[in-house]
Parts: sequence; structure tokens; C-alpha cells
Amino acid sequence: MTDLSKITCIEDLRKVAKRRVPRMFYDYADSGAWTESTYRANESDFQKIKLRQRVAVNMTGRSTRTTLIGESVAMPVAIAPTGMTGMQHADGEILGARAAQAFGIPFTLSTMSICSLEDIAEHTGRHPFWFQLYVMRDRDFIERLIERARAANCSALQLTLDLQILGQRHKDIKNGLSAPPKPTLANIMNLATKPRWCLGMLGTHRRGFGNIVGHVKGVGDVSSLSAWTAEQFDPELNWADVEWIKKRWGGKLILKGILDEEDARLAVNSGADALIVSNHGGRQLDGAPSSITALPAIAQAVGQDIEVWMDGGIRSGQDVLKARALGARGTLIGRSFLYGLGAYGEAGVSKALQIIHKELDLTMAFCGHADINTVDSSILLPGTF
Ligand code: GLV
Repeated sequence: MTDLSKITCIEDLRKVAKRRVPRMFYDYADSGAWTESTYRANESDFQKIKLRQRVAVNMTGRSTRTTLIGESVAMPVAIAPTGMTGMQHADGEILGARAAQAFGIPFTLSTMSICSLEDIAEHTGRHPFWFQLYVMRDRDFIERLIERARAANCSALQLTLDLQILGQRHKDIKNGLSAPPKPTLANIMNLATKPRWCLGMLGTHRRGFGNIVGHVKGVGDVSSLSAWTAEQFDPELNWADVEWIKKRWGGKLILKGILDEEDARLAVNSGADALIVSNHGGRQLDGAPSSITALPAIAQAVGQDIEVWMDGGIRSGQDVLKARALGARGTLIGRSFLYGLGAYGEAGVSKALQIIHKELDLTMAFCGHADINTVDSSILLPGTF
């Protein structure tokens, strides 16, 4: 058994993950595009927002339970789709899905995952999860992916709109990122310092892109995310395609990667059920605003017409509460999830969720609320947001 009693915050998990996960995969998770200014702002802009402490308010019977697109959730947090999660830890997506299921929050599987849609369905007793879709040139493959998501019992499709071309992250190029890692001298030397990770990988057969390998014919390099996106992702993606996907899927649709009010209105017109204010964790357009600063205007413009969620920079329950106060019905965690996973596998993901939940619950109480559903912008100090 791993002793997690001394792990008290997400930063603790990040430090352990940095030690345990091979450099190329840790760096892949923990980096942003170009100068990383947007990546950093996602976190630092949360810190600028101040909370109003209230006292002598009844704090008993507190609840963080709410709904996201009609699904009951233990707190307004979902696990974000993250590429190559099964390279942070063997079978990472299965472990993440299980931890999310046990906690009572949604798990999103990325198109670019290591474990496949079918793996997740099989290892979670067909508990519903969400599937994130990238639109590729090969529409037959997209149709098949949608059908596979349906067969795997996915309850919502998350369509990512901000990554038809890949932002440049310097470290990925320098590290020669691939899944599985290539047997270069630098990789072998780095892997030699990660025995736990290597042992895990030896014990699984899931080491490539599980949704893709074996499902597409005539594709060149399927080990490299950058090669695959350049070759396969459709740069012509437009709102007519969104409509086409909505029709083909026929279920709940979430649009991810909205950062502009005008796009938010188009998202509403598309008939989607939710949109996610997101700059892809600062991994795409370096120089774009942080998600938390883009959120209020979008929530005010369209929050009555569609569920508005956000991701980017959430490292604590305080961040979740601030996002909620600024109009996000839900939030998604990417790196906070990956740090827990890379550090301690499923137990680490559970720990990350417990940490965020406890922080959210206490912060909500300090701000004078016992129910997450009553929280609004009045908990924030004017002039700080
Ligand atoms: C993929 O989603 C990435 O950001 O690398």
C-alpha cells in the first residue's frame, strides 16, 4: 500500500509525478506552447481573484453535488481528455476512469488515448463515460469512432475545436515525444531511473494509441502525436461539420475550446448542450487570454442558453469555486489529474479528487455557503475579477 497521508495538495502530487514519470511524458503534460505565457496565466490569473470571507453562517449539511448536462456529479469537476494518458502510468485511462467512477464525477477519454474506448467500457463495468473527438480527414474513421463511443456506452461526446493543427511545445520536439518511446540512448538512460513506470509498462500490452492502431489503414507513423495530427486532423473543420457530428451522434454534445464571445454564440446556434471555455491548457495559441479571464464575458453572453464550463489552470478547490462564481457550471481538470496518476496510479487520482473536493467544500463554507448551487459572484471581492 502506498502511504498517501503526507500528500496534502496537488503540488505534492506534481513533484512525485515529476520523479516517477519518464521525462518525455512528464514534459508533455507539464508544458505549454511557445513562451508558455498562456499556460502560466491560466494558473496565475486564478491567484489574482480574491474571496470574501463570511462568518457566523450555518455551515452544517454542506453539499458540493450538482448536475452537468443532466448528470448528477459529486462536485462540479470532470476529468478532462488528455492525450497519451496511458504513458503517464500503465493503463492510465482505465485507472482514471475507475477513480472518477468511484468518486462520482465524469471521466473523459481522449481520441489520442493509449487505452481504447473498448478497454474503458470493459474495465468499468460499462459505466457511462465521455468521449472526446478530434475531427480527422477520414470521415469514415470518424463515423466508426462515433459508433464505437456509442457501443462503449459513452453518455456525451466532447468535440474539441481548437486543435486541428498542433501548437508547438518546444520540449516535445527536443524530447522526441512518441508512444511508445523510441529506444534511443537518452530515453534508455532516462527510463533506467523510472523502475516503477517500466514495471507497469512491462505488465500491460497497451503502449500505442489504442483508438487508432489497428483501426485505420494506410497511415504512416502512428507513434507520433505531431505526425498523426499533421497527417490526419482536418484543418478545414467548420460549423457545418459540427452539425454533421451532432446529427451522427444524436446524444449530448459538448464543444471544447471556446475562448471568444462570437464563437460562444455560434456554439449556442449549433445546438450543443455545453461549451467549454478553454485554451487547451495553454498548449495551442500562446498569447491567448487565460481561461478564467475569458470566462465571465462568455458566461454573461450565453450562460442562459447553454451550459458554460471551463478548464485551464485548476489546481485546487478554491479555483473550482472561483470558476463557479464567475459563471462556470462545471470545470475540468487535466494536469491535476495527470499528476495524481503519474505519482500513484489510481490511488493518486483518487487522492487528487479528494484534495480538490475537500478544498472546495471548506472554501465554500468560509465564503458563507453550504450548497454549491447557491454560489455566485457575490463570494468574490469586487475589483479582483
Ligand atoms: C492534445 O490534446 C495535446 O494537447 O497534446
